[in-house]
Amino acid sequence: MLQTRVDSGLDGVIVADTVMSEVDGEGGRLIVRGHGLQELVAGRGFEGVAALLWSGYGDGGNDEPAVRDGLAAARARAFADVPRLLAATKGLNPVEALRVGLAMLPDSDPTPHHYLVCGAMPVFLAALLNAHKGLSAIAPDPTLTTAQDLLRMIRGQRAGEVFEKGLDTYLATVADHGFNASTFTARVVGSTRAGLISSVLAALCALKGPLHGGAPGPVLDMLDEIGEAERARAWFDQALARGERLPGFGHRIYKVRDPRADVLKATVADMPMTAGRLAFAANVEKEALAALRRHKPGQRLDTNVEYYTATLLEALDVPRAAFTALFAVGRVAGWCAHIFEQEEGGRIIRPQSNYVGPRPQ
Ligand code: ACO
Repeated sequence: MLQTRVDSGLDGVIVADTVMSEVDGEGGRLIVRGHGLQELVAGRGFEGVAALLWSGYGDGGNDEPAVRDGLAAARARAFADVPRLLAATKGLNPVEALRVGLAMLPDSDPTPHHYLVCGAMPVFLAALLNAHKGLSAIAPDPTLTTAQDLLRMIRGQRAGEVFEKGLDTYLATVADHGFNASTFTARVVGSTRAGLISSVLAALCALKGPLHGGAPGPVLDMLDEIGEAERARAWFDQALARGERLPGFGHRIYKVRDPRADVLKATVADMPMTAGRLAFAANVEKEALAALRRHKPGQRLDTNVEYYTATLLEALDVPRAAFTALFAVGRVAGWCAHIFEQEEGGRIIRPQSNYVGPRPQ
């Protein structure tokens, strides 16, 4: 018999078995293919985490050296599409333009599609940011990792090791995170056998919303508006009284602090000249948490990944408008892994709705 109690957000509904990752919302822990977050990020860069996620799936070889080579070759392949991309995306912001770029990739491309999308995204993003500044696109360097090459293509020269490591840690930290909205979207589209490129494109569209991957830009806007830590309490009281949501806080699964926030906060602390900004952000965070407890008692709202993503990407000198697109450069590894898993063992995802409209007489 059809169950008619509707939970519009699917809270607690289990829709698949997965070997990819587990989000422990009460314990504040993340496991990715058997590895805890701290160990994962300390021991592997982005390519290593992608290799772990893809191990046993896909073609083209998925151990770490193969992933590194595959992504480097895919970056070179994607660079050929840059003129077409730039011509088609004038006036669009980076994530909208990335959406066009993914849509342009043909299903018939012989490059293994997980490499193709993961290689194309950093190349497209760097070219879009350069075009915005009136600069030509810089060709990728196949000897570098994704993080090293992306920063080089954006800046025109190699960034220092601390910055490259910082971006690598970010990409590895956000690579996979359970059945979040974009990953679920990827699996729904993957379940129809529409193909990996279409599934990743759909996931990107889900990610760009301000309730999901669109939050870090607004976090910086909020910090700028607050200006001084002494003004934070009044600012939060007013915002919450108006019914606003604080970007960088709250999570469907985590009822305690998001463990990724601490990894990224520590990464910001390694960057030069960030001590003042980080201390300010930490003070504002304390005020935000206190205000949430005053205005939303019993809701268990804590800091999520986006709060310190914002300060880290700011320290890496990434333009605010590109934050969501950069999140996608990391998360695409997880999307691909989930699409593989869905295609291998899953059926078409087709839930039901409860009709509440009028019925014919
Ligand atoms: N600020 C203020 N209040 C909040 C916040 C917040 N950030 N988040 C949730 N609440 C409140 C809601 O207003 C609601 O209160 P009410 O019952 O008094 O109306 C209550 O908490 C429950 O909210 P829901 O919408 O049911 O929570 P849900 O689990 O659906 O939302 C979400 C999770 C979307 C992440 C939410 O916390 C939010 O909007 N956060 C701000 C945006 C953000 O930071 N997004 C990034 C999330 S991390 C990621 O996706 C990578």
